[in-house]
Amino acid sequence: MVEPADPDTLERAAALIRAGRLVAFPTETVYGLGADATSDVAVARIYEAKGRPRFNPLIAHVADVSAARRLAVFDARAEAVAARFWPGPLTLVLPRRADCPVSLLACAGLDTVAIRVPAHPIARALLRAAAVPVAAPSANPSGAVSPTTAAHVVQGLDGRVDMVIDGGACAVGLESTILDLSGADPVLLRPGGVTAEDLCAVIGPVAMPGADAHARPKSPGLLLRHYAPGIPVRLGATAVGPEEALLAFGADVPGGAVETLNLSPSGDLTEAAANLFRYLRALDRPGRSGIAVMPVPERGLGAAINDRLRRAATPP
Ligand code: TXA
Ligand code: MG
Repeated sequence: MVEPADPDTLERAAALIRAGRLVAFPTETVYGLGADATSDVAVARIYEAKGRPRFNPLIAHVADVSAARRLAVFDARAEAVAARFWPGPLTLVLPRRADCPVSLLACAGLDTVAIRVPAHPIARALLRAAAVPVAAPSANPSGAVSPTTAAHVVQGLDGRVDMVIDGGACAVGLESTILDLSGADPVLLRPGGVTAEDLCAVIGPVAMPGADAHARPKSPGLLLRHYAPGIPVRLGATAVGPEEALLAFGADVPGGAVETLNLSPSGDLTEAAANLFRYLRALDRPGRSGIAVMPVPERGLGAAINDRLRRAATPP
């Protein structure tokens, strides 16, 4: 499973990515668990392999800034920091382009997308060969520390990943800095190798919500906005009310909805995760009384699906 980073390995790795499989690869920060970011099912496999209890959005990795511009809207600030710090340990959160090909599951349903152009030569070669944006969280099981060697990856994810490309130890060893440029003011969501001072020198003041040591959030996820539908969401539905749309699961679907989308008629949780955000958005249309959601079992990926459904059902 662990392969040396030669040209043959990179070709096979790129083919695995394009086929929707999982490949762990080195970046200069930490090892990433990569999959085709444009495929909902491939992205669902990442969450499954990590055993994440919730769908935190993932970083889309691309080979260069022109590939990045195909995913997101770049303003002058984004162009400036990209020109200065890419390739490198900086992730930018930017508005998704209307034609952004990145899976809504990878973006956890948000209107923004996190993008990084890594500097590691093996990561760059893989991204060029794969020719698709690669979604990649750190290649560790949820709750474990980020891996900085191929051996760490194997310790945590043995049997859950199709290939691990061995690139030796990561030079930075700390996750990338995350800068949110999707709003009026730049916000540092996660500190990293590129410092606030570095960023400030290029784009001026950067807000640091976690800068106060006592207020520092334990996880960048805590600073995250969540996708919430504009109409009420009702969980655990076994019947449909007047003017309700239905987000179904499984074979036994009640009738009477203005529109029904089934997360997985066969009850497959990976398929359900892959469809979740796309279907929620599709059903979220004005003029409907709400979205009724059938029960989803709590096992496996069901825990993350239910976590996100509960957030969607809670008014802000
Ligand atoms: O160095 C790194 O960034 C490594 C390597 C593999 O690139 N990746 C990494 O990914 O650390 P991950 O999934 O462990 O952390 C990504 C963080 C998430 O915790 C999430 O909060 C944030 O990026 N993120 C992703 N998309 C976002 C978005 N649209 N808005 C706000 N935050 C986002
Ligand atoms: Mg991580």
